[in-house]
Amino acid sequence: MHSDEPDRIIHADNLAVLPTFPDGRFTLIYLDPPFNTGRAQSRQSTRHVRVAESPTDDAAPEPGSVSTVGTITGFAGKRYERIRGDLLRYDDRFDDYWGFLEPRLMEAWRLLADDGTLYLHLDYREAHYAKVLLDALFGRESFLNELIWAYDYGAKAKSRWPTKHDTILVYVKNPSAYWFDSSAVDREPYMAPGLVTPEKAELGKLPTDVWWHTIVSPTGREKTGYPTQKPEGILRRIVQASTREGDWVLDFFAGSGTTGAVAATLGRRFVLVDENPEAIAVMKGRFTDVAGVVFEQGPTVS
Ligand SMILES: C[S@@+](CC[C@H](N)C(=O)[O-])C[C@H]1O[C@@H](n2cnc3c(N)ncnc32)[C@H](O)[C@@H]1O
Repeated sequence: MHSDEPDRIIHADNLAVLPTFPDGRFTLIYLDPPFNTGRAQSRQSTRHVRVAESPTDDAAPEPGSVSTVGTITGFAGKRYERIRGDLLRYDDRFDDYWGFLEPRLMEAWRLLADDGTLYLHLDYREAHYAKVLLDALFGRESFLNELIWAYDYGAKAKSRWPTKHDTILVYVKNPSAYWFDSSAVDREPYMAPGLVTPEKAELGKLPTDVWWHTIVSPTGREKTGYPTQKPEGILRRIVQASTREGDWVLDFFAGSGTTGAVAATLGRRFVLVDENPEAIAVMKGRFTDVAGVVFEQGPTVS
């Protein structure tokens, strides 16, 4: 994708459209997949394989897989297969979910630029399995952060600690080359400003890996009416830290298009994909004032 190409919003099953994008074209991929997809998953055989990094690494190519000597070309070495088998046998429900996500994450890895970063937004019930599997898939050395988005809204359980957080797992394509600029991130107020100098209090502090942030206000400016809409403030930090102006951002579970809305505000380029016509309708409204956005009908999955 070049700077003269338009920002795109594509109505399609993401698995049908992702293979049409060239390798390494996105600096940031943010994904907020639905948890229960409620459909039978079609298993994809893995085309790529992580090449062993040392003689003791058992991530050797599977028979019939593609490999490139000396570089990591993809996923699903033997070690990954073993971990995946153990985990998925343990939890049938997660098996379905991972069957849906795995081929899409493999595409995400292929589409990330060498300095690119994946943010995978998950709910607390799935985050721990996904972390173990992603460590094996991306490589443990590519794990950058586990972000906790904490909020405080809605009914509270009385029989256990009320669960009021989401988890965002962050993986980089290349641990030696990824882009991360903490100085570009909006700072936040100190919890105890009296304990720091007035200059520091005025400047604010860098966010840590725990982000307190309200949900999208039911009456606020941001509200699009899309049920699973995420706050722009969360995406803003992600886009500010992990991209530069002009970089390309991809969200292929786009929903109401929060990632694109933030990317446009910050001078980044974007491609959004969603299979739900209601999501596309919401995005048509949300992007009315953003110049040059092209809406497309993508291929359908056979
Ligand atoms: C949790 S929502 C994303 C919400 C989004 N982050 C926002 O701020 O509005 C997940 C989205 O993934 C979409 N989706 C689910 N499966 C998909 C698929 N196979 N291809 C494309 N979109 C899909 C759903 O239609 C839904 O809009």
